[in-house]
Order: sequence, then structure tokens, then C-alpha cells
Amino acid sequence: MTHYSAVKPPQAADDWTIPQEWDRYGADEHAMWDHLFERQTRMLPGRVAPAFLEGLDILRLSKPGIPDFTELNIRLMDATGWQVVAVPGLVPDAVFFDHLANRRFVAGRFIRTPEQIDYLEEPDIFHDVFGHVPLLANPVFADYMQAYGRGGRRAGELGAIARLARLYWYTVEFGLIRGADGLQIYGAGIVSSFSESIFALDDPSPNRIAFDLGRVMRTLYRIDDFQQTYFVIDSFEDLLHQTIESDFAPLYRSLQGAPDIGPAAVLDSDRVDHRGTQHYAHSRTVPTKAPA
Ligand code: PHE
Ligand code: CO
Repeated sequence: MTHYSAVKPPQAADDWTIPQEWDRYGADEHAMWDHLFERQTRMLPGRVAPAFLEGLDILRLSKPGIPDFTELNIRLMDATGWQVVAVPGLVPDAVFFDHLANRRFVAGRFIRTPEQIDYLEEPDIFHDVFGHVPLLANPVFADYMQAYGRGGRRAGELGAIARLARLYWYTVEFGLIRGADGLQIYGAGIVSSFSESIFALDDPSPNRIAFDLGRVMRTLYRIDDFQQTYFVIDSFEDLLHQTIESDFAPLYRSLQGAPDIGPAAVLDSDRVDHRGTQHYAHSRTVPTKAPA
């Protein structure tokens, strides 16, 4: 998670927000949303945490076309007091944390082109809104996100943003959760991706390991391909309690000098749901040194 872009574009406000300008989307852009929406919602039932589907429902995201933030925000505000605000692209960490701490989620307003349908480098409105916003209608997850924003300010002061970013990555973006009948996805990076929604749960390649806060803070992650390890939480309540009730300052201190853990590593101390074969990752890269 680097929400960083060197200079604020001149059209953005001091907090980096811009108007969504919903009227300016073309028919092809609305059609792209509808296509992605249909593809994901057909596949997600049974795979995604029920709270995600409830969020889609509460926010009436099934309405055709790219959501108009003004309309979406009425429902979201009503559900949990959150809002979605548009930004031109990645924003500096401090700006990102400040929005979260004030229950505002920053979202890109552009939508991917047909050439980018399965891979894009910067999050678009489909990732940001379809992927992230449904869980913001869940009161527990909504509180977690706000606490994370507050924690971001502290991490900045303590020089520990990289540690906290790993927590975001392995929960908010790529988290799995234990459901009644097995593992389910909830991370926005998975939920908004057709292929990773299948890979993260069904493929023998990646590790699936029980969430452990200190362990996650030491673990490197991949930004260029499917994850090699997913961490599994027991519930959103448990995630919120574990993070909100622990003071991260001593944790950051105790991790100082601790070696990073590779994206594919499995430790003796891990509670392993599935030990990955890593065959997918190995088929994609020519190793230059022993895999971690
Ligand atoms: N408890 C964390 C701290 O002391 C704050 C935090 C809460 C961070 C929840 C992330 C998620 O900094
Ligand atoms: Co995201």
C-alpha cells in the first residue's frame, strides 16, 4: 500500500478530493461496470463472506451503471456513518490515513478500459467501490477501517508505516475469513478480481495460514501477481479486537531488526490451513536464488 503520488494535481482540494462528475461517464463506461459487476456477483455467492453480499444489498449496488457517490453516500452514511470521496489517483499516506480516521474512503473515479479488464496497475472505481465499499456497511469492519486510519497517524510518528501497510495488505486487500463451511474471501483485491477470487480459495498453489498480527507485520507481499500466502481471520470481531486492543508501539519496537519473512515462507510456528505447492508462482518466475 503506497498511496503516494508526488504532487497534488491542481484540480484537487487540500484533502486531495475531486468531484466525481458522475454525469461525465459514457455509456461504454457504465457498460464496463455492469459487465464486471455481473461477472463477480455470479461467482461470489458461497465464496465471499456473507457480510459482503449484505453490503451490496444495503447499498443497492446492483443498480445498473457506475454508482453515483451522492446517492451511495446516503445509504452508506445511514448504515455506518462512512462516505466515499473521489481522488485523482494514489494519495500520500498521511492524507489516506486522515480520510480513514474520519470515516471517508478514498476512491478512484475512472474505470478500466477493455484492454485492462483483468489487470491494471492503479485501483479503479470498480476495485475501490465494488471491492471495498460493501464491507464499510458492516459496523464491525467499518470500525476496523477507522481504527486503522488512526493507527496510521501513529505508525507515521513511529516510523512503522511499512509494518502497518502489511496489515492492510493481508486483511483489507487480500484477507480470507473462516466461514461455517470453510474459508471465504473478504479482501477487496480478491473480491474485485475474477481470477484471484478462484485462485485464493481453490488453487493448491498459495499458503493459507491463520492470521497472526506480528507475523503479518513481518511478511513481504507481491504487488505484481497473485499472492503466495493468504492469512485467515476467524471473524471481523476478532480482527477488530486483536488490533484495537493492542498498543502497536511496543509491537513495532519488538519487531525492530526482526528479519522479513518471504511471501511464500511457512514457519514452524504458523497455524497452517493449507501448505501451498507454489507451483503457480514458480511457473511465473525464473528463480534467481532459493525461494523464500
Ligand atoms: N492499536 C493500533 C495502534 O496502537 C491501532 C490500530 C487499530 C491499527 C486497528 C490498525 C487497526 O497503533
Ligand atoms: Co484497494
